[in-house]
Amino acid sequence: MATILGLHFGHDGAAAVVVDGRVAGYVLRERLTRRKHDYGLDRRCIHVATQAAGISLRDVDYCVVTSTQGCDASLADMGDFELAYADADELPLPSSLLQLIHSEGRRIEDVCAPSMLRRVLSVPRDPRTHPVFHKLFQQYEGRSLEDLRPFPMLERHWTSPSWKWDATLDDLRRFSVDEVLSSADARHGFHVPIRLMIDGFRIPGVKLDHHLAHASSAYFRSGFTSSLVFTNDGYAGDRSMMATGAVFLGSNECLVPLWPHRMTMGHVYHDVGIHLGFDALGAPGKLMGLAPYGRPRFFDPRRVETPAGQERRGLDPSARGWIEDVIERAELAGVDSAAPRLPWIPFNQFQLDLAASTQLVFERQWRALVMAGLEMARTNNVCTPNLCLSGGASLNCPSNTALLRVRGVRSLFVEPSCDDGGLAIGAALWLEHALVDGRSTCLTAMSGADAYAGPLQPIGDPRVALGSRGWNAERVDRPEERAAADLAAGRIVGWFEGASEQGPRALGHRSLFAAPFGRPVLHRLNDLKGRERWRPFAPMVLDTARREYFDGPPDDSPFMLHAVQVRSGAIPAAKHVDGTARVQTVSAENGGCYRVLRAFQERTGLPVLLNTSLNGPGEPLIESFDDLLSFMEKRSPDVVYAGGWRIERRDHIATSVHGGAPAVSTTQ
Ligand SMILES: [Fe+2]
Repeated sequence: MATILGLHFGHDGAAAVVVDGRVAGYVLRERLTRRKHDYGLDRRCIHVATQAAGISLRDVDYCVVTSTQGCDASLADMGDFELAYADADELPLPSSLLQLIHSEGRRIEDVCAPSMLRRVLSVPRDPRTHPVFHKLFQQYEGRSLEDLRPFPMLERHWTSPSWKWDATLDDLRRFSVDEVLSSADARHGFHVPIRLMIDGFRIPGVKLDHHLAHASSAYFRSGFTSSLVFTNDGYAGDRSMMATGAVFLGSNECLVPLWPHRMTMGHVYHDVGIHLGFDALGAPGKLMGLAPYGRPRFFDPRRVETPAGQERRGLDPSARGWIEDVIERAELAGVDSAAPRLPWIPFNQFQLDLAASTQLVFERQWRALVMAGLEMARTNNVCTPNLCLSGGASLNCPSNTALLRVRGVRSLFVEPSCDDGGLAIGAALWLEHALVDGRSTCLTAMSGADAYAGPLQPIGDPRVALGSRGWNAERVDRPEERAAADLAAGRIVGWFEGASEQGPRALGHRSLFAAPFGRPVLHRLNDLKGRERWRPFAPMVLDTARREYFDGPPDDSPFMLHAVQVRSGAIPAAKHVDGTARVQTVSAENGGCYRVLRAFQERTGLPVLLNTSLNGPGEPLIESFDDLLSFMEKRSPDVVYAGGWRIERRDHIATSVHGGAPAVSTTQ
């Protein structure tokens, strides 16, 4: 058992501390810098993670680093920070990859990816044509490479001779796993030794492959003894055989990559979102919300294949190829792809149907990949009814839930920071388990409470900051009951509590709550958050009442990563146009948000509230109390609760948005 520091340097940079197999501290850099999806790390981020874990860098035994594909590592405030590849194993953990590179007469630095920072700093990029680059790297403008000393990322790993670049799903179905399962290199060929110097401490560690870190973040928190693990994110390049994702087998606390699938549905989905005009860094989430407005009439079953499989069918598998194909078929069918927008939504019918068709292709690709993986597992006698998903493509709720309907699947686990923000955690958990080599029995299922892994934030006296700015703050004894009364009266309630949640979804510690009685609240909430009015909001429900209000699996959805059918007519604001909701099940372990929900149920009969993230447009979730005060000044929620304080605008006029708070139960 050890204390391990995990550092992820790509977009959604993050630091995590794992102590004896448990995630003891974690922070996403964007929460501190207030720049969404912020790239890289800084010293403060690392110190906040160690403080959250109750340790200092002196206590760290080992470190592990990852990055986004193609992104080298650098600390924004370098100082004495230094990362270096080591020439020999410094941990009790052999690296087959290091031996392979040495056997070629080369050093690790010789086979690393070209420096992303070098490219960014040397080529002026127009923010209009490179919005992602501009947003992620604006902090580095004007900085020198000498100052940043980028650490080049090795994007190479052990590769089985039976893995093919042009593989199809049929190849997966027929794949024999004997070679990879019997190979020690498959277990030791995805990391190389490094040394980290920071604040005078020298910490030995490893650099870990991107998708192995994704897979680890799911499997080692799933509680499953055995599981197939599928990773996929928004990347579509050819940096390595596993650059877009892979199928892994998790068994007895060991993860082995079975097959690099090379599917690019996450990338295509992202690019369709961009094509529809969404912000480059938030496109997939918006596309998921838009798709139910359209009809999937351009769905093409031939697209349900790997890119190589699509090419064999004469299709261009790129996002551009898919979009052009849909436009062509639409025009043949007499549909004007350039028609004016519809009166009720800022898109035309073609755009809505493109969104719906893309969602269906995405879902069917995931489904086909999982079914092929299960068939391969059955053929090789490594079958398991458990699935883990990771990578940003696993944030797609309808797709996740659809996989639970695949024959042979009993359980599915997705962790809340399955995007690159969770790589620091996954990498640290991988190293913990690799060091003990399957001899421990510390696999436990992640609970809803485990998602609150951020640092505890001090709460000051809001009267000092807000007293002269139009807000009243009062101490309240039972904030949950007062909040429930506010919600029943139609107010939108901000809720700030304890440690922040992992991942991009509001899970009740940095949330805006609203009653789900009537749909007019959707406009109020969207306007308050600066979002488009057509976007839906997700509900949270008491776990004991979940079956009463929602249909279909899974019973537990603690991280808001599933879309289920709404069965109750009492919560119209929680129901999207297709009748679904991205539900979060809440129990006592969630803390104050659970008590708010209980108090709301006692008052109104409804154990359901809308729950959305406490942040403004284009901002990360708020992290600190100061962030909360800033949010309140800019967005003016009706009332906010934090640390026993009830804070309300002085000029607030209570406005019922549901035609009067119900005096009696509204349950069915
Ligand atoms: Fe990723």
